[in-house]
Amino acid sequence: MGSNLFLFIMLFKVTTLASVLAVASAVITVPLQRMENEEFIEQVRSGFKLMSTLQDSGDIVIKNYQNAQYYGEVTVGTPAQSFNVIYDTGSSNLWVPAKDCSNCGGKFIGKKNKYDREASSSYVVDDAPFAIQYGSGPVSGNWSVDAASMAGLPIEGQRFAEVKDASGLGAAYSAGKFDGILGLAFDSISIDNTPTPFKNLIDQGQVDKGIFSFYLANDKDGVLTIGGTDETKYDGDLTWVPLSSATYWEIALDDVSADGTQYDSSTSAIVDSGTSLLTGPTATVKKLAAAVGAKANFAGEYIVDCDAELPELTFTIAGAEYTLAGEDYLIKSGTTCLFAIMGMDIPRPAGPLWILGDVFMRKYYTAFDYENEQVGFAPAKA
Ligand SMILES: *[C@@H]1O[C@H](CO)[C@@H](O)[C@H](O)[C@H]1NC(C)=O
Repeated sequence: MGSNLFLFIMLFKVTTLASVLAVASAVITVPLQRMENEEFIEQVRSGFKLMSTLQDSGDIVIKNYQNAQYYGEVTVGTPAQSFNVIYDTGSSNLWVPAKDCSNCGGKFIGKKNKYDREASSSYVVDDAPFAIQYGSGPVSGNWSVDAASMAGLPIEGQRFAEVKDASGLGAAYSAGKFDGILGLAFDSISIDNTPTPFKNLIDQGQVDKGIFSFYLANDKDGVLTIGGTDETKYDGDLTWVPLSSATYWEIALDDVSADGTQYDSSTSAIVDSGTSLLTGPTATVKKLAAAVGAKANFAGEYIVDCDAELPELTFTIAGAEYTLAGEDYLIKSGTTCLFAIMGMDIPRPAGPLWILGDVFMRKYYTAFDYENEQVGFAPAKA
């Protein structure tokens, strides 16, 4: 197994607890959730209140752990208790480890910041059971309500989970740098339809615009801008793409090709900051891997000669081409190189689906426009 492979995460939400999967495996089947969302969209439209004078925007430093995990700060409680969370566009719930969680990281290695409800004057009891399944595994605990803040913007009455068991996320969590997860997708895939922190910021009039934007840098820290975009982090203009579904940040993917040969067409993709790599349908990724000269090893990972001549991969989205060069889709792991696209089959009706994870978002600055249900891409500055 590649030495840093265990750090890779897949934090998109999946539907059933039956579909636990191995991150290293090349052949994976995961059911994603798909909502009937006309009613939901109506709720969102009518839910945007007149903005108050509190409107603002702010930045969160996004720390980079080996290009595999990107995380930033959120606070919960009064006075503020600070946590490192994966800001995850593939799910919609906030959770942090509970003070009494014994399955949330180690005593020394992988020590986590834990939430102490008794130390918070704004804590409100809930305690109903909470459980969620991610691509990387399940976590569970109990609901609570408390004040929170991100990017210095205050959120009142945020419902979140105090997690009591995060062992399902494996070594990527226990040896990883993050304490919890903050979901940035839509309320329709949130457990119990609980409003996300970003939705609460909008409803409480705390942001200029219902937009947040990611700059995920290569081998250095990035920035998440809450309430707008940061023009200093990308070249040219953002190209906007309408969502095909406002559940995940899901868009139509017209075409996937390598060196002018088409490998997939008329399919869909989600843009997921909580997934380290890129994923696509198993059979397609197998052909793509062959096209770039990658070979599957015993663990089902695709290994590429680090010095090989590699073709450009092109993703066509709403008529525009987004390319990844060899250096973008290879991950150096010791002396070998890993092909950064994994095969993963997501069954109908949610699938087939590609996941444009951090490997894609490092190359393309991405703005997520909640109010207009669209994403904007532009080449990220180096
Ligand atoms: C907390 O959640 C667990 C399951 O995660 C459940 O068994 C327990 O009853 C919940 N606690 C309360 C007070 O409801």
